[in-house]
Amino acid sequence: AIERTLSIVKPDAVAKNVIGKIYQRFEDAGLKIVAARMVHLSAREAGQFYAVHKDRPFFSELVEFMTSGPVMIQVLEGEGAIAKNRELMGATDPKKAAPGTIRADFADSIDANAVHGSDAPETAAVEVAFFFPGMNIYSR
Ligand code: CMP
Repeated sequence: AIERTLSIVKPDAVAKNVIGKIYQRFEDAGLKIVAARMVHLSAREAGQFYAVHKDRPFFSELVEFMTSGPVMIQVLEGEGAIAKNRELMGATDPKKAAPGTIRADFADSIDANAVHGSDAPETAAVEVAFFFPGMNIYSR
């Protein structure tokens, strides 16, 4: 099925100037960028976005990292977009990410791991709506 997923190029990858290289991978895999914006998240926004992780030990570091610089946020659309994006990203921990994946090639640590991608249809819907009202998504 044609799906939409939320993707974030995190502060480490924005600082490394590899937004374009990461976008190229999405496009080469048949994923279409149907919405995008650059944002320097506030702690409140990052905390709300990652609310599911608020009781995890890494939560405060996660929020600190995600607010350390601007991020590039996009909606990717295509056949099986959620799983396809997760394949392109590789494992959360770049040390475990398969060769050739975005995290293997651009990430430095489990916090500075270059990209975020929604993990399931339910979270994708919530995450897309968090950053993009429907009128700002340009599907076909
Ligand atoms: P992301 O897909 O953006 O979702 C939550 C983020 O928390 C994750 O990527 C990692 O960057 C970060 N994180 C830090 N430590 C951990 C951990 N032990 N397990 C999962 N995620 C972690």
